[in-house]
Amino acid sequence: MDELNIELVSEADIPAMLVLWRNTPGLGVGDEEASLQNFIRRNPTTCLLLKSGGVIVSTVLGGFDGRRGYIYHLAVHPDYQRRGWGRKMLQEVIMRLEELKAEKIHLFVFEDNQGAKAFYERQAWIRRHDIQVYSINTNK
Ligand SMILES: CC(C)(COP(=O)(O)OP(=O)(O)OC[C@H]1O[C@@H](n2cnc3c(N)ncnc32)[C@H](O)[C@@H]1OP(=O)(O)O)[C@@H](O)C(=O)NCCC(=O)NCCS
Repeated sequence: MDELNIELVSEADIPAMLVLWRNTPGLGVGDEEASLQNFIRRNPTTCLLLKSGGVIVSTVLGGFDGRRGYIYHLAVHPDYQRRGWGRKMLQEVIMRLEELKAEKIHLFVFEDNQGAKAFYERQAWIRRHDIQVYSINTNK
């Protein structure tokens, strides 16, 4: 495995992260620069990336609301998948959320994302059958 270091995301990384996400099937679309900036400012120690030769090849966003942790946008560039980077990024963000005293961590996976479901189950994440996610769009 190449020696790549996990780094904290900075606001200057946002445009390149958006490019990675838009080219990675399995992630939701609709991220905007301003809301990401806000997220990174609120969660300065739990938004992580991996660069190879200056190019972003993996990301994960951890959010802490004071009680629970939430993990979003774990992505590994297709050329770097199945080399253990996804697991490493996940372990790192979990450790950092634990340091903030998150009591439990949740994440969301699209129903048809079989690869991600297999990946999380391989890491011993428990698929919940007792919860449905409800969402509403607000007037921003
Ligand atoms: C899901 C994702 C992050 C996994 O990253 P990765 O770097 O390829 O995963 P790893 O190499 O760390 O794999 C860890 C384990 O999961 C397994 N795994 C990874 N992807 C898998 C897949 N598609 N199907 C089955 N098992 C898989 C690996 O075989 C490995 O198993 P092991 O413990 O026996 O070695 C990556 O495939 C990805 O970016 N997918 C697109 C974006 C996405 O869907 N993200 C999740 C959003 S919720």
